[in-house]
Amino acid sequence: MSDNRYRVLSGMRPTGKLHVGHLKSVLEIWKKLQDEGHTCFFLVADLHALTTEWNDSKKIYENSTEMVSEWIAVGISPEKSAIFMQSQVPEHAELFTILGMITPLGLLERNPTYKEFVQEIGSEEKVANLGFFSYPVLQSADILLYKANKVPVGKDQIPHIEIARDLAEKFNRIFGEVFPLPEPLLAETPKILGSDGRKMSKSYNNAIYLSDNIKLIEEKVKIYMTDTARKTRKDPGEPERCPLFTLHKVFTPEEEKKHVELMCRTAGFGCLDCKKILLKNMVPEIEKIQDELKKTSREMVEDILEEGRKKAKEFASKTIEEVKALVFGRKNEKSKR
Ligand code: TRP
Ligand code: SF4
Repeated sequence: MSDNRYRVLSGMRPTGKLHVGHLKSVLEIWKKLQDEGHTCFFLVADLHALTTEWNDSKKIYENSTEMVSEWIAVGISPEKSAIFMQSQVPEHAELFTILGMITPLGLLERNPTYKEFVQEIGSEEKVANLGFFSYPVLQSADILLYKANKVPVGKDQIPHIEIARDLAEKFNRIFGEVFPLPEPLLAETPKILGSDGRKMSKSYNNAIYLSDNIKLIEEKVKIYMTDTARKTRKDPGEPERCPLFTLHKVFTPEEEKKHVELMCRTAGFGCLDCKKILLKNMVPEIEKIQDELKKTSREMVEDILEEGRKKAKEFASKTIEEVKALVFGRKNEKSKR
């Protein structure tokens, strides 16, 4: 194995079907890293889902398999990467427990994603539990268990990666050098806005899903928010103020995108013409994914998850052995687990 290969770990909560924002941000870097030959672990964060969905937990498994079939349809490869469910590798819970002992409460209290999350979930009560408070510690365990150097994530996750670094550093200092310090890898894609001009998100009901039928996608695009200052066909517009243009940025080829910008700024065409160009570029890409989706069955996904579980477990159990030997001062003895 050459040493310029990273160990990569990332994950997603199984919140149901994926939208084009997921496709063009995180999934594209996952695929790139995997195709460049780095060692990749991609997990379904079903325990993390439980921190907020404990009152409706039966849907988590179904959502997980659905999400994995979409990962596979976009090209995340079970041959190249380990694709697995967090809850099926108990070492995550074990490392979480140990890391919990060296996690200062202040580190979690200061976590900026906490408040945002409460807002997005829209219910204080749902997240008033220890599991949710310690969410970043479990995420740190996910990352450190695989001694990951790189963690491809969206911007919103950066505070969590920083917590993982802090905990890795502290563990290494107290118990001995085990963990490399993980670094976030950000997608270079611009932020994708939803049909109402807010960040594209399931909870805002403003997203275009990979599994939407094409008619529905056309309808969604028809009512998509555009530059609100462009009141009539004769007014020039400004693409940088236009939520729909964030889709052109990721779906329309460079040359044509330049043309779209020019036509918008000079009132050379109307928003409807502009939307037609977007559809022409976006729809075939989504159709291709949908063709792939049709080829995956529930059984296939379950087999893939089982293969992934084995690969992940093999690595994770070695890390846990190393960790426990250091923490509890056990020398040169193989555990009997
Ligand atoms: N918290 C991440 C999210 O909501 C999901 C996640 C869980 C994750 N464990 C991880 C991401 C480890 C990166 C690394 O999207
Ligand atoms: Fe947006 Fe296109 Fe209309 Fe310009 S022409 S405001 S980029 S939809």
